[in-house]
Amino acid sequence: MLLREAATSSVIGLINGVVMLVGTLVLMSVLDLVLTGVTVAAVLVVIALFGWLMPGIATAQARAQEQVGRLGGVLEGALRAIRTVKVSRAEDRQAERVLVHARSSAEHGISAVRAEATAWTIAWSGIQLAIILILGIGAWRVSLQQLEVSSLIAFLLYAFGLMDPITELSQNLTALQSGVAAAERIREVDAMEAEPAGSRTSAASGPGGGRSSGPVIELRGVTASYRPSAAPAVRGIDLAIPRRGHLAIVGPSGAGKTTLYSLILGFLEPQHGTLFLDGRPYRQHTRDEIRARLAYVEQDTPIVPGTIRDNLLFSHPDASEEELARVLDEVQLAEKVAMLEEGLDTSLSSSQISGGERQRIALGRALLGTPDVLLLDEATAQLDALTEAAVHNCLRDRAAAGAVVTIAHRLSTVIDADDIVVMENGLIRARGDHESLLETDRLYRELVAALRIAHDTAPAGR
Ligand SMILES: Nc1ncnc2c1ncn2[C@@H]1O[C@H](COP(=O)(O)OP(=O)(O)OP(=O)(O)O)[C@@H](O)[C@H]1O
Ligand SMILES: [Mg+2]
Repeated sequence: MLLREAATSSVIGLINGVVMLVGTLVLMSVLDLVLTGVTVAAVLVVIALFGWLMPGIATAQARAQEQVGRLGGVLEGALRAIRTVKVSRAEDRQAERVLVHARSSAEHGISAVRAEATAWTIAWSGIQLAIILILGIGAWRVSLQQLEVSSLIAFLLYAFGLMDPITELSQNLTALQSGVAAAERIREVDAMEAEPAGSRTSAASGPGGGRSSGPVIELRGVTASYRPSAAPAVRGIDLAIPRRGHLAIVGPSGAGKTTLYSLILGFLEPQHGTLFLDGRPYRQHTRDEIRARLAYVEQDTPIVPGTIRDNLLFSHPDASEEELARVLDEVQLAEKVAMLEEGLDTSLSSSQISGGERQRIALGRALLGTPDVLLLDEATAQLDALTEAAVHNCLRDRAAAGAVVTIAHRLSTVIDADDIVVMENGLIRARGDHESLLETDRLYRELVAALRIAHDTAPAGR
């Protein structure tokens, strides 16, 4: 909008203003040269003042627009990562961040308007002063009989007429300024590199509570659908997640794997059946209690806007530097971060962070609170070898201490798992270890064959 205004009406208005200004000045000089000189001097002073104020207006405008852009970025990022925001129980913190940005955007908007208003005031007072001067000098020249009263009146009328072109000029110059600032921002955005596609993100945990024995999470006869009228996305699911070890879930696309996570995370309510945490039904726990025990790495890593540190601390804002260093080490990012000029404070919008590194940051965030249950929805996109190795080491370590559930899209993850669940059409059709499933389940054999082909043909890097 600013651009359109700048490109059309502002430029035309500018030309109009100049023509009118010059025309009026020519007519004035025919009437009286001395008074014209005074007028020209006044106009020049106004122009000089404007030239002096313009850079300030430009910066204020650019800053205001940048703030609005940032506000949009924070909002969009938070909405895209809404599942991560919720699991991290970061709703309030995120709302606060949005408010801070909204406030600063409002402040910058006000200061931009203030700068413009100053420029206006100066333009107007310049004109008023010029008219007073013309009146004074004109009266003096009339008294010396160097000027007719009628000429003075005509001159004054012209001087009033000057107001129009000058207002128009200043108005259009400021509009042009906004337009130029907007164009500058668009150019900046244009110059940014597109983010590497295909990453994912993570979530939270809480106080470890290896209370009772038995499964940490259990689903009994769970059926759920996304809309009351729709067919159930999962049906009659019975699944116990043991306190330790790695459970992998495999199945064709649309089998209901992510839906299972949505149920466990409390994003979706079952229509039938019950979920249990520590042997107690979900409804006897608060949502916060449940989510405090879980960490979740989404399939398509929505990184929250901000720095690496912001992202790692997203679920656990109170984590210490040592803890940060520990997870960075675990996901094999310590070296990379040490190499970055700004270290942990490098913004993730910077193109220095690759897709695989984003995934590891998301995993690091999930590991920060040593969650009781780590839910990982593996990205379907291929990972680089380093990321894959880092992820697998982490999962193995984590599975020794707590429950790890992965929705596996990679052969190595499946083979690593202690226990594998095969899903199809919203049902669990088989469960067992890799060897026994290879023997007994046709779908599992097919899935493994497909993963093997994907694995063998995958490039080493991305
Ligand atoms: N938000 C949603 N609203 C409505 N239907 C959904 C939604 N998410 C998933 N579904 C439907 O539920 C079924 C199971 O989807 P789900 O996302 O659990 O599959 P998935 O096994 O995770 O597949 P993929 O491997 O492709 O991620 C599918 O038929 C899907 O179309
Ligand atoms: Mg899925």
